[in-house]
Amino acid sequence: MLSIAIINGPNLNLLGTREPGIYGTESFDSFLPTLRAQFPQVSLSYYQSNIEGALIDYLQSCRDTQQGIILNAAGYSHTSIAIGDAIAAISIPVIEVHISNVLAREDYRKTSFIAAKCIGSISGLGLNGYALAIQHFLSVA
Ligand code: DQA
Repeated sequence: MLSIAIINGPNLNLLGTREPGIYGTESFDSFLPTLRAQFPQVSLSYYQSNIEGALIDYLQSCRDTQQGIILNAAGYSHTSIAIGDAIAAISIPVIEVHISNVLAREDYRKTSFIAAKCIGSISGLGLNGYALAIQHFLSVA
């Protein structure tokens, strides 16, 4: 069975109530069972942290257990050289996901320190971006 980890960064624990005009009204906790039901052939792990080092520890811990990672590093996407380095250090394909269209927002969101270390990026397609990333991993498995 294909093992994929979804990793969400800071403030995504507040999805559903956080700026709903931008991020929607569904919490990730409510979305995750729907996603798991949509892909019964995939073992989906989920981790969220507001802490940069904890995200790096989790990325490293995926080395021996996961075949793909879907990472929404949230605000750290635009600031964290260390998360970019962690992606480069592990030999697991990572897809960057953003719920909102970061290229249509503030200029500081147009830079990603992780995009170039990922196999690709999905931005602006809402929570469906996570499902599309899983579909990609399945199509190349
Ligand atoms: C985000 C976009 C980031 O710019 C922002 O800091 C987030 C969420 C998104 O999913 O659209 O926290 O990654």
